Amino acid sequence: KRLILIGPPGSGKGTQSPIIKDEYCLCHLATGDMLRAAVAAQTPLGVKAKEAMDRGDLVSDDLVVGIIDEAMKKPSCQKGFILDGFPRTVIQAEKLDEMLGKQGAKIDKVLNFAIDDSILEERITGRWIHPSSGRSYHIKFAPPKVPCVDDVTGEPLIQRKDDSAEVLKSRLESFHRQTKPVIDYYGKKGVVAALHAEKSPKDVTSEVQKVLS
Ligand code: AP5
Ligand code: ZN
Repeated sequence: KRLILIGPPGSGKGTQSPIIKDEYCLCHLATGDMLRAAVAAQTPLGVKAKEAMDRGDLVSDDLVVGIIDEAMKKPSCQKGFILDGFPRTVIQAEKLDEMLGKQGAKIDKVLNFAIDDSILEERITGRWIHPSSGRSYHIKFAPPKVPCVDDVTGEPLIQRKDDSAEVLKSRLESFHRQTKPVIDYYGKKGVVAALHAEKSPKDVTSEVQKVLS
């Protein structure tokens, strides 16, 4: 299966991805996670991306298209993939279609994590992540077994630099202006399924399973 997860910041893309990935043996390609790793490692890519990310703006189409083009070649992605956070502009979507077209492939489903903006601030400001695995927790909705510590590795959890209420406003603005049109782009192709992303994580998983079965 070739899937795209689209939704605003905090809508649950990163929470559902590992579950879907294991169930269908897909690879999980999250441009945000890849960019954060590049920023942490101070690679040339990370240096270019950092400022835009800190402001809550999108990084350039060329940068992210390059990362995805490279990542999709991994052997683990040959059975299919989950794109989490990509494409986020219509240009990125067109480039993706082009890349897939060359292999005679196409997107099977776009999961639209539909949710009201008002719910997102609490989700975003309460999030804690384990940077190396990308696992995320929430102080209220999904607390770790031991406060501030990853359940699996025992390593410390951190908060994302862009997870402030202030930066969230720009991220939401980018979502409505640049990413919403991507939903319409795939809507015209008839591959979009809307989810009730305000429900509990378990209920959202059930909706995803229904759509994909
Ligand atoms: P990215 O990392 O993609 O961030 P985002 O889209 O803002 O999405 P989030 O990761 O914040 O939300 P999520 O939906 O994954 O939420 P989660 O499941 O963790 O991008 C970051 C930046 O990188 C961008 O701003 C941009 O600069 C750059 N970038 C990335 N891709 C790009 C691209 N293609 N083009 C250009 N620039 C790009 O959940 C959030 C919290 O809520 C967690 O604490 C979780 O435990 C909790 N939670 C989850 N589900 C539920 C639920 N159902 N009920 C209650 N709580 C829940
Ligand atoms: Zn995410």
